[in-house]
Amino acid sequence: MTPIRWGILGAGGIAAKFGSDLRAAPGSTIAAVAARDGRRAAAFAGRLGIPRSYGSYRELVEDEDVDVVYIATTHAQHHEQALLALRAGKPVLVEKAFTLNARQAREVVAEARARRLFCMEAMWMRLHPLIRQVADLVRAGELGEVVGLRADLSKTFHPDRDVRLFDPAAGGGALLDLGVYPVTLAWLLLGRPATVQATGSRGSTGVDLTAALQLGYADGRVGQVYCSAISESPYAALLTGTAGWVRFEGRMHHPTALTVHTAAGERVLSAPPVQGNGFNWEIAEVESCLRDGVTESPLAPLEDTIGVLEILDDARRQLGVRYDADEDADRD
Ligand SMILES: NC(=O)c1ccc[n+]([C@@H]2O[C@H](COP(=O)([O-])OP(=O)(O)OC[C@H]3O[C@@H](n4cnc5c(N)ncnc54)[C@H](OP(=O)(O)O)[C@@H]3O)[C@@H](O)[C@H]2O)c1
Repeated sequence: MTPIRWGILGAGGIAAKFGSDLRAAPGSTIAAVAARDGRRAAAFAGRLGIPRSYGSYRELVEDEDVDVVYIATTHAQHHEQALLALRAGKPVLVEKAFTLNARQAREVVAEARARRLFCMEAMWMRLHPLIRQVADLVRAGELGEVVGLRADLSKTFHPDRDVRLFDPAAGGGALLDLGVYPVTLAWLLLGRPATVQATGSRGSTGVDLTAALQLGYADGRVGQVYCSAISESPYAALLTGTAGWVRFEGRMHHPTALTVHTAAGERVLSAPPVQGNGFNWEIAEVESCLRDGVTESPLAPLEDTIGVLEILDDARRQLGVRYDADEDADRD
Protein backbone atom coordinates (compact mmCIF):
# COMPACT_ATOMS: atom_id res chain seq x y z
CA MET A 1 0.00 0.00 0.00
CA THR A 2 1.45 3.35 -1.04
CA PRO A 3 1.44 5.67 1.99
CA ILE A 4 -0.50 8.95 1.92
CA ARG A 5 2.08 11.77 1.80
CA TRP A 6 1.22 14.60 4.19
CA GLY A 7 2.38 18.20 4.22
CA ILE A 8 2.17 19.96 7.60
CA LEU A 9 1.41 23.68 7.32
CA GLY A 10 2.52 25.48 10.51
CA ALA A 11 5.05 24.17 13.01
CA GLY A 12 3.38 24.89 16.35
CA GLY A 13 2.13 22.82 19.27
CA ILE A 14 -0.60 20.73 17.66
CA ALA A 15 1.50 20.20 14.51
CA ALA A 16 4.11 18.44 16.66
CA LYS A 17 1.55 16.21 18.39
CA PHE A 18 -0.36 15.32 15.24
CA GLY A 19 2.94 14.87 13.36
CA SER A 20 4.12 12.40 15.95
CA ASP A 21 0.94 10.31 15.42
CA LEU A 22 1.34 10.60 11.63
CA ARG A 23 4.83 9.13 11.94
CA ALA A 24 3.33 6.11 13.68
CA ALA A 25 0.45 5.68 11.19
CA PRO A 26 1.17 2.70 8.93
CA GLY A 27 -0.74 4.20 5.96
CA SER A 28 0.84 7.66 6.10
CA THR A 29 4.14 9.42 5.80
CA ILE A 30 5.10 13.07 6.32
CA ALA A 31 6.61 14.43 3.12
CA ALA A 32 7.21 18.05 4.12
CA VAL A 33 6.56 20.78 6.67
CA ALA A 34 6.37 24.56 6.27
CA ALA A 35 6.62 27.39 8.77
CA ARG A 36 6.83 31.14 8.30
CA ASP A 37 10.43 30.89 9.43
CA GLY A 38 12.47 28.42 7.39
CA ARG A 39 14.83 27.66 10.27
CA ARG A 40 11.95 26.71 12.55
CA ALA A 41 10.54 24.52 9.80
CA ALA A 42 13.93 22.82 9.38
CA ALA A 43 14.23 22.26 13.13
CA PHE A 44 10.71 20.77 13.21
CA ALA A 45 11.59 18.55 10.25
CA GLY A 46 14.74 17.41 12.04
CA ARG A 47 12.79 16.44 15.16
CA LEU A 48 10.22 14.39 13.24
CA GLY A 49 12.51 13.01 10.52
CA ILE A 50 10.65 14.87 7.74
CA PRO A 51 12.61 14.94 4.46
CA ARG A 52 11.69 18.45 3.23
CA SER A 53 11.01 21.77 4.96
CA TYR A 54 9.98 25.15 3.61
CA GLY A 55 10.04 28.73 4.86
CA SER A 56 6.81 29.55 3.03
CA TYR A 57 3.39 27.93 3.00
CA ARG A 58 3.09 28.36 -0.76
CA GLU A 59 6.10 26.15 -1.42
CA LEU A 60 4.48 23.42 0.66
CA VAL A 61 1.14 23.48 -1.15
CA GLU A 62 2.97 23.46 -4.50
CA ASP A 63 5.08 20.42 -3.58
CA GLU A 64 4.05 17.75 -6.09
CA ASP A 65 4.93 15.00 -3.66
CA VAL A 66 2.38 16.13 -1.07
CA ASP A 67 -1.02 14.40 -1.27
CA VAL A 68 -2.84 16.23 1.53
CA VAL A 69 -2.16 19.37 3.58
CA TYR A 70 -2.78 19.47 7.32
CA ILE A 71 -3.50 23.09 8.32
CA ALA A 72 -2.16 23.46 11.87
CA THR A 73 -2.03 27.23 12.28
CA THR A 74 -4.16 29.50 14.48
CA HIS A 75 -7.90 29.77 13.66
CA ALA A 76 -7.57 33.20 12.06
CA GLN A 77 -5.25 31.77 9.39
CA HIS A 78 -7.29 28.68 8.46
CA HIS A 79 -9.54 30.36 5.88
CA GLU A 80 -6.71 31.89 3.87
CA GLN A 81 -4.45 28.85 4.10
CA ALA A 82 -7.13 26.27 3.32
CA LEU A 83 -7.98 28.30 0.21
CA LEU A 84 -4.27 28.51 -0.67
CA ALA A 85 -3.93 24.72 -0.49
CA LEU A 86 -7.20 23.97 -2.31
CA ARG A 87 -6.35 26.41 -5.10
CA ALA A 88 -3.04 24.58 -5.51
CA GLY A 89 -5.07 21.40 -5.99
CA LYS A 90 -4.43 19.91 -2.55
CA PRO A 91 -6.97 18.17 -0.30
CA VAL A 92 -7.02 19.59 3.24
CA LEU A 93 -7.50 18.61 6.86
CA VAL A 94 -8.11 21.86 8.74
CA GLU A 95 -7.66 22.13 12.51
CA LYS A 96 -10.59 23.15 14.68
CA ALA A 97 -12.04 25.70 14.81
CA PHE A 98 -12.29 25.24 11.03
CA THR A 99 -12.54 29.01 10.44
CA LEU A 100 -13.42 32.13 12.46
CA ASN A 101 -17.06 32.16 11.38
CA ALA A 102 -19.61 30.34 9.25
CA ARG A 103 -19.17 32.66 6.27
CA GLN A 104 -15.47 31.78 6.00
CA ALA A 105 -16.33 28.10 6.39
CA ARG A 106 -18.87 28.26 3.55
CA GLU A 107 -16.22 29.80 1.28
CA VAL A 108 -13.69 27.06 2.02
CA VAL A 109 -16.31 24.33 1.57
CA ALA A 110 -17.49 25.86 -1.72
CA GLU A 111 -13.91 25.93 -3.02
CA ALA A 112 -13.31 22.31 -2.06
CA ARG A 113 -16.58 21.19 -3.63
CA ALA A 114 -15.97 23.17 -6.82
CA ARG A 115 -12.58 21.51 -7.18
CA ARG A 116 -13.82 18.10 -6.01
CA LEU A 117 -11.10 18.00 -3.37
CA PHE A 118 -11.28 16.32 0.01
CA CYS A 119 -11.83 18.71 2.91
CA MET A 120 -12.46 17.96 6.58
CA GLU A 121 -12.35 19.76 9.91
CA ALA A 122 -9.84 18.10 12.24
CA MET A 123 -12.61 17.48 14.77
CA TRP A 124 -10.90 14.34 16.10
CA MET A 125 -13.67 13.85 18.68
CA ARG A 126 -16.07 12.74 15.93
CA LEU A 127 -13.77 9.91 14.87
CA HIS A 128 -13.34 8.58 18.42
CA PRO A 129 -14.86 5.07 18.61
CA LEU A 130 -16.92 5.82 21.74
CA ILE A 131 -18.33 9.03 20.29
CA ARG A 132 -19.40 7.06 17.24
CA GLN A 133 -20.87 4.43 19.55
CA VAL A 134 -22.93 6.90 21.58
CA ALA A 135 -24.42 8.26 18.37
CA ASP A 136 -25.28 4.66 17.39
CA LEU A 137 -26.93 4.08 20.79
CA VAL A 138 -29.12 7.12 20.27
CA ARG A 139 -30.06 6.05 16.75
CA ALA A 140 -30.92 2.56 18.04
CA GLY A 141 -33.26 4.09 20.64
CA GLU A 142 -31.46 2.52 23.63
CA LEU A 143 -32.09 5.63 25.72
CA GLY A 144 -35.70 5.95 24.59
CA GLU A 145 -36.30 9.50 23.40
CA VAL A 146 -33.32 11.77 24.02
CA VAL A 147 -34.29 14.59 26.39
CA GLY A 148 -31.08 16.53 26.87
CA LEU A 149 -27.31 16.85 26.91
CA ARG A 150 -25.04 18.62 29.38
CA ALA A 151 -21.47 19.05 28.22
CA ASP A 152 -18.58 21.14 29.44
CA LEU A 153 -15.03 21.70 28.31
CA SER A 154 -13.03 24.23 30.32
CA LYS A 155 -9.40 24.78 31.05
CA THR A 156 -7.44 27.62 32.62
CA PHE A 157 -5.27 29.45 30.11
CA HIS A 158 -2.69 32.10 31.07
CA PRO A 159 -2.47 35.38 29.13
CA ASP A 160 1.33 35.51 29.30
CA ARG A 161 1.81 31.93 28.07
CA ASP A 162 -1.27 31.17 25.93
CA VAL A 163 -1.20 34.41 23.99
CA ARG A 164 -3.41 33.34 21.06
CA LEU A 165 -6.28 32.40 23.40
CA PHE A 166 -6.64 36.04 24.48
CA ASP A 167 -5.88 37.69 21.14
CA PRO A 168 -8.94 38.64 19.04
CA ALA A 169 -6.72 38.84 15.94
CA ALA A 170 -5.89 35.15 16.41
CA GLY A 171 -9.56 34.21 16.89
CA GLY A 172 -9.07 33.96 20.65
CA GLY A 173 -11.77 33.09 23.15
CA ALA A 174 -13.20 30.06 24.88
CA LEU A 175 -15.92 29.32 22.32
CA LEU A 176 -13.70 28.67 19.29
CA ASP A 177 -11.02 26.83 21.20
CA LEU A 178 -13.03 24.85 23.76
CA GLY A 179 -16.76 25.35 23.17
CA VAL A 180 -16.47 23.97 19.66
CA TYR A 181 -16.22 20.46 21.17
CA PRO A 182 -19.37 20.39 23.34
CA VAL A 183 -21.31 22.30 20.66
CA THR A 184 -20.24 19.69 18.10
CA LEU A 185 -21.29 16.94 20.50
CA ALA A 186 -24.71 18.59 20.90
CA TRP A 187 -24.99 18.87 17.11
CA LEU A 188 -24.11 15.20 16.69
CA LEU A 189 -26.55 13.92 19.34
CA LEU A 190 -29.39 16.47 19.14
CA GLY A 191 -29.02 18.12 15.74
CA ARG A 192 -29.47 21.76 14.77
CA PRO A 193 -31.10 23.76 17.59
CA ALA A 194 -34.04 26.07 16.98
CA THR A 195 -32.78 28.59 19.54
CA VAL A 196 -29.43 29.54 21.07
CA GLN A 197 -29.24 31.58 24.28
CA ALA A 198 -25.78 32.59 25.40
CA THR A 199 -24.50 34.21 28.54
CA GLY A 200 -20.94 34.62 29.76
CA SER A 201 -18.03 36.98 30.27
CA ARG A 202 -15.46 38.81 28.19
CA GLY A 203 -11.89 39.65 29.15
CA SER A 204 -9.99 42.91 28.79
CA THR A 205 -8.92 42.02 25.23
CA GLY A 206 -12.57 41.55 24.20
CA VAL A 207 -12.60 37.77 23.76
CA ASP A 208 -15.03 35.47 25.55
CA LEU A 209 -13.57 33.93 28.69
CA THR A 210 -16.63 31.93 29.76
CA ALA A 211 -19.72 31.01 27.79
CA ALA A 212 -22.83 29.08 28.77
CA LEU A 213 -25.21 28.14 25.95
CA GLN A 214 -28.76 26.90 26.20
CA LEU A 215 -29.74 25.12 23.01
CA GLY A 216 -33.47 24.72 22.47
CA TYR A 217 -35.22 22.29 20.13
CA ALA A 218 -38.71 22.57 18.71
CA ASP A 219 -39.69 19.21 20.23
CA GLY A 220 -38.66 20.24 23.75
CA ARG A 221 -35.17 18.69 23.93
CA VAL A 222 -32.46 20.85 25.45
CA GLY A 223 -28.69 21.13 25.26
CA GLN A 224 -26.61 22.87 27.91
CA VAL A 225 -23.09 23.64 26.82
CA TYR A 226 -20.45 25.32 28.92
CA CYS A 227 -16.87 26.38 28.25
CA SER A 228 -14.39 28.56 30.04
CA ALA A 229 -10.79 29.56 29.42
CA ILE A 230 -10.36 30.68 33.04
CA SER A 231 -11.49 27.66 34.99
CA GLU A 232 -10.58 24.03 35.37
CA SER A 233 -13.20 21.33 34.89
CA PRO A 234 -13.45 17.55 34.44
CA TYR A 235 -14.68 17.94 30.82
CA ALA A 236 -17.92 16.21 31.79
CA ALA A 237 -20.85 15.19 29.62
CA LEU A 238 -24.15 13.50 30.39
CA LEU A 239 -26.77 12.49 27.84
CA THR A 240 -30.25 11.78 29.18
CA GLY A 241 -33.22 10.02 27.64
CA THR A 242 -36.66 8.80 28.64
CA ALA A 243 -35.29 5.27 29.14
CA GLY A 244 -31.72 5.82 30.32
CA TRP A 245 -28.59 7.92 30.35
CA VAL A 246 -24.99 7.88 29.18
CA ARG A 247 -22.18 9.37 31.23
CA PHE A 248 -18.93 10.12 29.46
CA GLU A 249 -16.01 8.98 31.60
CA GLY A 250 -12.72 10.84 31.37
CA ARG A 251 -12.70 13.77 28.98
CA MET A 252 -15.89 14.23 26.99
CA HIS A 253 -14.12 14.70 23.64
CA HIS A 254 -11.97 11.57 23.97
CA PRO A 255 -13.62 9.51 26.69
CA THR A 256 -11.98 6.50 28.28
CA ALA A 257 -15.39 4.85 28.71
CA LEU A 258 -19.15 5.34 28.51
CA THR A 259 -21.39 4.30 31.37
CA VAL A 260 -24.75 3.33 29.87
CA HIS A 261 -27.62 3.13 32.37
CA THR A 262 -30.98 1.67 31.29
CA ALA A 263 -33.72 -0.44 32.88
CA ALA A 264 -31.61 -3.46 31.94
CA GLY A 265 -28.87 -2.27 34.31
CA GLU A 266 -25.61 -0.47 33.90
CA ARG A 267 -22.83 -1.39 31.51
CA VAL A 268 -19.51 0.21 30.77
CA LEU A 269 -18.20 0.48 27.23
CA SER A 270 -14.44 0.97 27.24
CA ALA A 271 -12.40 2.78 24.62
CA PRO A 272 -9.67 0.91 22.77
CA PRO A 273 -6.17 1.66 24.12
CA VAL A 274 -4.98 5.14 23.18
CA GLN A 275 -2.30 5.18 20.52
CA GLY A 276 0.15 8.08 20.74
CA ASN A 277 -1.78 11.33 21.17
CA GLY A 278 -5.06 9.75 20.02
CA PHE A 279 -5.20 11.19 16.49
CA ASN A 280 -4.94 7.74 14.89
CA TRP A 281 -8.68 7.42 14.15
CA GLU A 282 -8.78 10.83 12.50
CA ILE A 283 -5.70 9.98 10.42
CA ALA A 284 -7.26 6.65 9.41
CA GLU A 285 -10.44 8.42 8.29
CA VAL A 286 -8.50 10.86 6.08
CA GLU A 287 -6.47 7.99 4.61
CA SER A 288 -9.62 6.01 3.90
CA CYS A 289 -11.43 8.94 2.24
CA LEU A 290 -8.42 9.78 0.06
CA ARG A 291 -7.89 6.17 -1.00
CA ASP A 292 -11.60 5.78 -1.83
CA GLY A 293 -11.83 9.12 -3.66
CA VAL A 294 -14.38 10.41 -1.12
CA THR A 295 -14.24 14.20 -0.83
CA GLU A 296 -16.33 14.65 2.35
CA SER A 297 -16.12 12.35 5.34
CA PRO A 298 -19.54 10.94 6.25
CA LEU A 299 -18.28 10.79 9.85
CA ALA A 300 -17.37 14.48 10.03
CA PRO A 301 -19.63 16.18 7.45
CA LEU A 302 -18.81 19.69 6.30
CA GLU A 303 -22.45 20.77 6.74
CA ASP A 304 -22.05 19.98 10.45
CA THR A 305 -18.85 22.03 10.61
CA ILE A 306 -20.72 25.00 9.09
CA GLY A 307 -23.76 24.48 11.34
CA VAL A 308 -21.61 24.43 14.48
CA LEU A 309 -19.92 27.66 13.41
CA GLU A 310 -23.35 29.23 12.91
CA ILE A 311 -24.13 28.43 16.56
CA LEU A 312 -20.76 29.84 17.66
CA ASP A 313 -21.36 32.98 15.55
CA ASP A 314 -24.73 33.43 17.22
CA ALA A 315 -23.27 32.91 20.71
CA ARG A 316 -20.39 35.33 20.06
CA ARG A 317 -22.87 37.92 18.78
CA GLN A 318 -24.88 37.62 21.99
CA LEU A 319 -21.71 37.95 24.08
CA GLY A 320 -20.48 40.95 22.08
CA VAL A 321 -17.33 39.23 20.78
CA ARG A 322 -16.38 40.33 17.29
CA TYR A 323 -13.47 39.53 15.01
CA ASP A 324 -12.39 41.60 12.01
CA ALA A 325 -13.62 38.73 9.81
CA ASP A 326 -17.16 39.35 11.13
CA GLU A 327 -17.07 42.85 9.64
CA ASP A 328 -16.49 41.24 6.23
CA ALA A 329 -19.51 39.01 6.84
CA ASP A 330 -21.65 42.05 7.68
CA ARG A 331 -20.72 43.69 4.37
CA ASP A 332 -21.83 40.61 2.34
N1 LIG B 1 -7.13 18.90 17.77
C1 LIG B 1 -6.63 19.27 18.93
O1 LIG B 1 -6.61 18.52 19.90
C2 LIG B 1 -6.02 20.63 19.06
C3 LIG B 1 -5.25 20.94 20.18
C4 LIG B 1 -4.66 22.19 20.24
C5 LIG B 1 -4.85 23.11 19.23
N2 LIG B 1 -5.65 22.79 18.17
C6 LIG B 1 -5.88 23.75 17.09
O2 LIG B 1 -4.69 23.87 16.34
C7 LIG B 1 -4.49 25.20 15.91
C8 LIG B 1 -3.10 25.65 16.34
O3 LIG B 1 -3.03 25.60 17.74
P1 LIG B 1 -1.63 25.43 18.49
O4 LIG B 1 -1.96 25.19 19.91
O5 LIG B 1 -0.77 24.46 17.79
O6 LIG B 1 -1.04 26.90 18.33
P2 LIG B 1 0.47 27.36 18.28
O7 LIG B 1 1.34 26.41 19.01
O8 LIG B 1 0.46 28.78 18.68
O9 LIG B 1 0.85 27.26 16.73
C9 LIG B 1 0.14 27.96 15.79
C10 LIG B 1 0.91 28.09 14.50
O10 LIG B 1 0.18 29.03 13.74
C11 LIG B 1 1.06 29.59 12.81
N3 LIG B 1 0.74 30.93 12.37
C12 LIG B 1 0.62 31.30 11.08
N4 LIG B 1 0.30 32.57 10.98
C13 LIG B 1 0.22 33.05 12.23
C14 LIG B 1 -0.07 34.33 12.79
N5 LIG B 1 -0.33 35.39 12.01
N6 LIG B 1 -0.05 34.45 14.11
C15 LIG B 1 0.20 33.38 14.91
N7 LIG B 1 0.46 32.13 14.44
C16 LIG B 1 0.48 31.99 13.12
C17 LIG B 1 2.45 29.46 13.38
O11 LIG B 1 3.04 28.76 12.33
P3 LIG B 1 4.58 28.88 11.92
O12 LIG B 1 5.13 27.63 12.54
O13 LIG B 1 4.55 28.88 10.47
O14 LIG B 1 5.13 30.12 12.52
C18 LIG B 1 2.31 28.61 14.62
O15 LIG B 1 3.24 27.57 14.62
C19 LIG B 1 -5.63 26.02 16.52
O16 LIG B 1 -6.61 26.25 15.54
C20 LIG B 1 -6.17 25.13 17.63
O17 LIG B 1 -7.55 25.28 17.87
C21 LIG B 1 -6.21 21.57 18.07
